[in-house]
Amino acid sequence: MTIIKSKHFILRPFKKGDEKSLLENINNKKIYRNTLNIPYPYTLKDAKEWIAKNLKEAKMKIPTKIKFVIDIDGEVAGSIGLVKIRGHKAEIGYWLVEKHWDKGIMTEAVKLVTKFGFNKLKLKRIYAYVYPFNKASMRVLEKAGYKFEGILRKDVKKDNKFMDDYLFANVR
Ligand SMILES: CC(C)(COP(=O)(O)OP(=O)(O)OC[C@H]1O[C@@H](n2cnc3c(N)ncnc32)[C@H](O)[C@@H]1OP(=O)(O)O)[C@@H](O)C(=O)NCCC(=O)NCCS
Repeated sequence: MTIIKSKHFILRPFKKGDEKSLLENINNKKIYRNTLNIPYPYTLKDAKEWIAKNLKEAKMKIPTKIKFVIDIDGEVAGSIGLVKIRGHKAEIGYWLVEKHWDKGIMTEAVKLVTKFGFNKLKLKRIYAYVYPFNKASMRVLEKAGYKFEGILRKDVKKDNKFMDDYLFANVR
């Protein structure tokens, strides 16, 4: 169980009791619009299922996903994780409650989790997919040392629309 402390937040695993603040903070159409797998409206059932799933995943001997709560004052202010961990590479994904946007929090979190991926998991490549209109996320990745690699046209289907993905990656 990895815990990473910064001046502004703690990165820690999900735990029972996180359901309420997860629900309150993630239930935002702007978060839904910019991500692929987060429902809107987000229900208590979604929150309970998500935490149960994470508790199970945390017990995996060889994890393919490692997800952290961005804990601010004991609340689930957001989340960041490495998923599709296979061999030398993994995908990074994240969201943050709107009241904390534009304070540099996610840039710091992406830097810390990238360092964890390279140093502890010995990854060589960490990549992210971003929708073309999500300039804040692109900026976060750039500030954390990620480079734009190209556009994957009609890469995913969301709300019955095929969406382009901008691919960013950091290597070591
Ligand atoms: C994207 C997100 C994680 C950013 O988190 P954050 O903590 O606000 O990010 P930071 O404060 O570290 O950095 C944001 C940067 O984007 C910039 N930015 C914000 N909105 C912008 C916009 N519309 N256009 C261009 N730049 C923008 C900020 O000015 C800042 O850059 P700067 O430091 O050079 O001024 C947050 O907005 C979020 O959770 N969004 C919804 C979910 C999401 O998009 N997840 C990522 C999916 S790929």
